[in-house]
Amino acid sequence: MKVSIVFESGYGHTARVARHVADGAASVAGTEVELVEVDGEGEVDLDALGASDAIIFGSPTYNGALGWKLKRFFESTTGPVWSELKWRGKVAAGFTNSGAVSGDKLGTLVSLALFAAQHGMVWVNLDLLPGHGGKDELNRLGGWLGVMTQSDDAPPEQTPPAGDLRTAEHLGRRVAETAAKLRS
Ligand SMILES: Cc1cc2nc3c(=O)[nH]c(=O)nc-3n(C[C@H](O)[C@H](O)[C@H](O)COP(=O)(O)O)c2cc1C
Repeated sequence: MKVSIVFESGYGHTARVARHVADGAASVAGTEVELVEVDGEGEVDLDALGASDAIIFGSPTYNGALGWKLKRFFESTTGPVWSELKWRGKVAAGFTNSGAVSGDKLGTLVSLALFAAQHGMVWVNLDLLPGHGGKDELNRLGGWLGVMTQSDDAPPEQTPPAGDLRTAEHLGRRVAETAAKLRS
């Protein structure tokens, strides 16, 4: 069973979150995890990605929306993947990191979920009660469509906080468990 995580990160914060999503997925026995960072230049190997049972999409929120590198990757799937609905039935989920507590992160998650819907993928949400802002809390920012994390103006080794990273692990685990159930 394979889970791929396709993400963009300008300054390393979303990349850190992506690694925690990967750790959560890898904690499910029998799961192979691949991290794919889009750099805005090279093309992603769509055949390799097509071998995934689940694909989790991650982006920073820039200007209330997903980053252009991930958007470029999304558009690159239109001819080779979307036109034949090759990803129909695969599990999908998403996460976004931004600087402000809200920062209009929901706009980014909605775009990720719509992309997955247009591909006929099965969107997995975040099954956690809302936290109340504490930095060690799960789902600190109280989102459900996907994982929302927030980083301060500091290096990715210091931020986002522990609760956000554990929330990311939770989503990765949930996606891998869901994909395993759908396969059986
Ligand atoms: C061009 C640009 C636009 C941004 N727009 C937003 C925004 O709409 N909301 C927000 O909360 N933070 C915004 N930020 C802050 C980033 O979301 C924040 O720096 C985040 O850590 C970036 O993640 P990364 O380190 O993975 O690139 C913006 C940053 C840049 C450079």
